[in-house]
Amino acid sequence: MNDPRIAQLNLPPGMIDFGAGQPSPALLPLALLREAASNRLDGKEAPFLAYGTNQGDGYFRAVLADFLCEHYHAPVDAGQLFVTAGASMGLDLLCTLFAKPGDTIFVEEPSYFLALRIFADHRLKIISLPMDAGGLIVEDLEEKLTRHSPVFLYTIPTFHNPSSVTLGTDRRKHLVELSRKYKFLIIADEVYHLLNYASEIPPPMASFIVSDTVLSLGSFSKILAPGLRLGWIQTGPQLLKHIVGCGLLDSGGGLNPFASALVRSTIEMGLQQTQLATLKTTYTERKVALIYALKEYLPDSVRFVEPDGGFFIWLVFPEGVDTGQMRVEARRKNVGYLPGIKFSSRNGLKNCARLSFSYFDVPELEEGAGRLALVIKKYMKRF
Ligand SMILES: Cc1ncc(COP(=O)(O)O)c(C=O)c1O
Repeated sequence: MNDPRIAQLNLPPGMIDFGAGQPSPALLPLALLREAASNRLDGKEAPFLAYGTNQGDGYFRAVLADFLCEHYHAPVDAGQLFVTAGASMGLDLLCTLFAKPGDTIFVEEPSYFLALRIFADHRLKIISLPMDAGGLIVEDLEEKLTRHSPVFLYTIPTFHNPSSVTLGTDRRKHLVELSRKYKFLIIADEVYHLLNYASEIPPPMASFIVSDTVLSLGSFSKILAPGLRLGWIQTGPQLLKHIVGCGLLDSGGGLNPFASALVRSTIEMGLQQTQLATLKTTYTERKVALIYALKEYLPDSVRFVEPDGGFFIWLVFPEGVDTGQMRVEARRKNVGYLPGIKFSSRNGLKNCARLSFSYFDVPELEEGAGRLALVIKKYMKRF
């Protein structure tokens, strides 16, 4: 699995790296996809091997719409969906189509570090917005809107990466009102929305697309397999028209028709639904175990909250702690994490760290928490 010729992640043997924000190899659904593939590849025709229709495979979009409708508890129409090769690719395409170099955008502080890399590729000027336990502070956004004119706001509203917080319903509504008033787009990265481990969550930003200011990014990376490179954008007719008419699709046709056809079978056969339930059970167990171990081992001065979904636990250390520096020692002890500075668009958050519970199983998470606690206690003696 740890093969550098094919895998992005390559961990040294024995390393428990909480930085790995992806499913463990054992959770990758090989048997399930074999079943779906034999169903899909059994027929006599293979339209999914031809160039696809620009908006993405319509049969796939129809089953995806039903699937989302069930999980969002809100109507979703296949006509609102555009097929992407994953949320990252969707985000890159939106930057190409709706922004130009030098434009201002708003992002949360902290934000998904690899989205920041995409914004850098597009030479966008970033203004960061503070968050609290209820997500993005919308009043602060409103104040900044009197001084800046962003083309879009990039937000991760549910089970945020890295902080795990979720934007409340009232704030979502307020945000959409502001986007209409000040004429900016909201790019809502909702890749963790379906991975909820508690009962009630706010409606996805996708349910506000009537405003014609909201674009919601979804992905099969977190609920099925990242290697499929398959996701979607849900949005209203005006924005959709702009996306579907772009040159990339004129030349290459709709994105990823082959993966769309396979995943269509996984949904039609109920396999995706089973996989989602399995993932939720597994990740809940992992989260509970890691939270328990952290509460037991970490000094009280390290703060964190238990997430209700997603992959991450965000550690906040006392001011002055440099998690980048501490990571050097952690790696010597065969444990890793991502330092907070990676998630900052203004070189801040040095006293924070992101742990993920998606990759390792319970005994490894417990072992890793123990190793990490020893490193932290030793490092913090200086404070
Ligand atoms: C917030 C967020 N957006 C996007 C992605 C990447 O999604 P995809 O694999 O669909 O490109 C991730 C993966 O870590 C993520 O955490």
